Amino acid sequence: MPVAIPRPLSPGGDVRNAKRHKMQHGVMSTFSEEDCMNGPQASTSVLAQNAEIDHRSEEEMVDEQMNLPIEYPKSYQKELDYREKLVLAPMVRTGTLPMRLLSLYYGAGLVWSPEVVDKAIIGAERVVDPATGVITYHKGQGPIFSTHPVEKPYLIFQIGSSNPELAVKAAQTVQQDVSGIDLNSRTHSGMGAALLSTPDILLNILRALLDSIPLPISCKIRLLPTQPSTLYLVSRILRTGIRNLTVHCRTRDMRPGERALWERLADIVALGKKRGLPVICNGDGDGWSNWEKIRSETNADSVMIARAAERNPSVFLPSGPMCNMTEVIPKLLAIAKYTQNPWGNTKFLLTQFKASPPPISNMSKQERKNVSEIVSKSKSIEQVAEGLKVSLDDVQAVFRTVEGKITDRSGKGRSIWDERHEAEEKGDVVDEPSNVAEPDAEVDGFDVGIGQAKVEALYQEE
Ligand SMILES: Cc1cc2nc3c(=O)[nH]c(=O)nc-3n(C[C@H](O)[C@H](O)[C@H](O)COP(=O)(O)O)c2cc1C
Repeated sequence: MPVAIPRPLSPGGDVRNAKRHKMQHGVMSTFSEEDCMNGPQASTSVLAQNAEIDHRSEEEMVDEQMNLPIEYPKSYQKELDYREKLVLAPMVRTGTLPMRLLSLYYGAGLVWSPEVVDKAIIGAERVVDPATGVITYHKGQGPIFSTHPVEKPYLIFQIGSSNPELAVKAAQTVQQDVSGIDLNSRTHSGMGAALLSTPDILLNILRALLDSIPLPISCKIRLLPTQPSTLYLVSRILRTGIRNLTVHCRTRDMRPGERALWERLADIVALGKKRGLPVICNGDGDGWSNWEKIRSETNADSVMIARAAERNPSVFLPSGPMCNMTEVIPKLLAIAKYTQNPWGNTKFLLTQFKASPPPISNMSKQERKNVSEIVSKSKSIEQVAEGLKVSLDDVQAVFRTVEGKITDRSGKGRSIWDERHEAEEKGDVVDEPSNVAEPDAEVDGFDVGIGQAKVEALYQEE
């Protein structure tokens, strides 16, 4: 009977120790999955209890997964291209229809819906507004999810689920209006399961989606505490047959203000490349200003942007962001009015916008303060428009411009990189410097900036 030697799951030395031990003792057995997921302490206790110890190294376990055939080798009528893009992250509250349309208008390659919990969307009624084309899924008291056909080619619907059957039903509810389904492996319990600590459930949900849904399936995870356990999980996820993996380069316990651990992504991207699958880097992406840096450090195929886009959705512009106040807000108001976005959400989006530093915006501190006051005092879109002197007379025309640009680009034959290079050649590029991280707060189980938590509290008071 081999002697259990508890060892921490850290890269390099541990792998070598395990290999040496295996060679010395010639033993093979099972290293439990939970053991791998939960890191050093769990691994010690499980090992201590186990008579049969698995002394395969994590490296070997990853290799084994990588050499197994794909579980659901599928092809789709419409494949999604996840590569070479800046994409909009899933964001509850923030990633609503106006924000997604604005992001696409400015150049986002794909947009994720906010996470919708399976049970919330199952059974929702699909209503199409014949005047605007807006499709809304209603259930109970209010709309659960709204979309417009113009965004369909780029729209990925993110599901929060801890149950394969419910996840499939949720995906089936919306599949006619979206181009991909993403599973969020939430790290917080509450509405959804903490899937990162229950990898078998996560994998079973992916398998069920792959089996039943005729759209590309993807998954978004955070880093696990140790690199070997992350790589092992990734190797198992990639084997299912998903089309894309997005990695938020923070662990569950890291706060949003802490620097994203890009340095841990390269190994994950390498596994993706072995499987021929794209890996998207998420965490601290600013847009064009740090895309090259992220690519060179991680090799990632694309970058997913959350908070920087929340502050200013024009970060997706190849020539760099524009002034929120003069350029973005008027468009947001027109889109929100035309698509009849609920006022509460429109106000929330406005509150998240932050003025950029010169030369992007030349507003004085006082002017910025005035805008904030007008937004916070307004009780309707008309009031805020009047206060900010934005005309809502022809919102349909603004919407058509936005729609036209989103539709156009698919036929243009020019990549977003072509546009960037063109802007660079013309000397038109104005990149916003890396933005400072906001203090921490949590809303609906997600880590968000403190400003957002305040706004959230405000709405609850209303
Ligand atoms: C307001 C807000 C809402 C979020 N909602 C979601 C969500 O619905 N699904 C999800 O996977 N992540 C969600 N996140 C996490 C982001 O998608 C992203 O992983 C995180 O903010 C790190 O990216 P960043 O550094 O670019 O902000 C949310 C983040 C914020 C700020």
